[in-house]
Amino acid sequence: MDSVPKPHAVCIPLPAQGHINPMLKLAKLLHSKGFHITFVHTQFNYNRLINSMCPDSVNQGPPNFRFEVVSDGLEPANQRGIMDLPALCEAMPVHLLESFRELLVRVRDSPDVPPVTCVVSDGVMSFTMEVAEEFGLKEVLFFTPSGCGMLGYLQFEELLIRGYFPLKDESCLSNGYLDTQIDWIPGVRGIRLKDLPTFLRTTNPQDTMFNYNLESINNALKSKSIILNTFDDLEQQVLDVMRTKFEKIYTIGPLSMLCQQIPNAEQLDSIQSNLWKEDSECLDWLDDREIGSVVYVNFGSLIIVTKEQLCEFAWGLANSKYSFLWVIRTDLVDGGTEILSGEFTEEIRGRGLLLGWCPQEKVLSHRSVGGFLTHCGWNSALESLCEGVPVICWPFFAEQQMNCLYLCDKWGVGMEIDADVRREKVEGLVRELMDGGKGKELRRNAMEWKERAEEATMAGGSSYMNFDVLVKHLKQESL
Ligand code: UDX
Repeated sequence: MDSVPKPHAVCIPLPAQGHINPMLKLAKLLHSKGFHITFVHTQFNYNRLINSMCPDSVNQGPPNFRFEVVSDGLEPANQRGIMDLPALCEAMPVHLLESFRELLVRVRDSPDVPPVTCVVSDGVMSFTMEVAEEFGLKEVLFFTPSGCGMLGYLQFEELLIRGYFPLKDESCLSNGYLDTQIDWIPGVRGIRLKDLPTFLRTTNPQDTMFNYNLESINNALKSKSIILNTFDDLEQQVLDVMRTKFEKIYTIGPLSMLCQQIPNAEQLDSIQSNLWKEDSECLDWLDDREIGSVVYVNFGSLIIVTKEQLCEFAWGLANSKYSFLWVIRTDLVDGGTEILSGEFTEEIRGRGLLLGWCPQEKVLSHRSVGGFLTHCGWNSALESLCEGVPVICWPFFAEQQMNCLYLCDKWGVGMEIDADVRREKVEGLVRELMDGGKGKELRRNAMEWKERAEEATMAGGSSYMNFDVLVKHLKQESL
């Protein structure tokens, strides 16, 4: 070991794909700046990683990059492929916290690694701040959603005070109440209740997800500095408002682009984070298609759709007559996928490829992909912007509605499909996206955002510089 030990960051993401991926990118970036990294998975996810990938990719990273596991405290019955989020949110602040404390003791007492100097924790696991403080460690919270999404969560306290939450009764979900305009959020105009994070759509004042998010945000407000996977140019107004609430916001995104600046990045390529087994043969399939001719369809890692919704999307895509690559996770559909056989298979022969999980960033950067039908998870939204690919938005839950609003109305790169999806609408929007005048305009805008994202992440750009400041902050000894 060097005479001056390396700084040592312990990175702990929420145990979900959309949180693990950006945290891993941040960990790789810190490693490239000389940090020793301990990356923490739950035992459950670690087993899934081993099953879905070559075990070496989680066991044998480069020197100074190690993995550790903690327990999330969930019963095996709750640990199916798809996650029971409320159960997880109830278990983590007790069980995972204790397991994390034990891990820090273990790592502290290990002669093989430099002393831990800081904790980088997921923003929605701000309960870890308590342990970091106990060990005298600096902690920075990384909120993986968009700035606009985070601004939505920051309104939860006010929504409670103003009586918007809890909803008076179930009828509020369907009687137009959610169309209520909200005009009191600074920095955001033209927003409705239904654009805000969906965890407020409940009649139960004890609702786990509402209260968990409220508490996470209130805790985070004490932490002074946070990290966001966005860039200043993209969310200037939102960030201006958020900067009145936090002393320091490190906007260092898009992380996938910033990672391209890592020298010798190949040595980190072996470290992957897929919880599902990836099918990379789809890239060969894309090689055989014409430029910009394929619609890519993926609803991320968490949502579950009904058989009816699956059927509407399937026939909408088939009837559009465009080629499409559609990722249907093994656990995506509630009730089975038999509709995707027989007549449907015949109809899409030679132009539709269905698979269980793909290398999304490579797919989005492929020249054959002309548009993306997405659930608007923040990683997907940003990865699409980074490749200049316009989107059709079908937001489902969490802050995806807010991302959709910004993608469509503020950044001009998307069109929205109603929650109550119909095949005619899917068909029409796909045609418009791929070949219509509006589609062309969205593609132009997306290409512009791609360029602006590149500017932000290249040497001297805002995210590049902010990352340097973050590194200095994390390397400083004082808390
Ligand atoms: C979501 C969102 O981050 C967010 O809206 C909300 O806070 C809840 O969690 P998820 O639904 O997984 O996460 O979506 P997304 O943010 O898009 O993350 C999915 C990640 O998995 C992306 O990085 C994507 O590239 C990757 N992915 C997805 C693949 O590599 N292959 C796939 O086939 C599908």
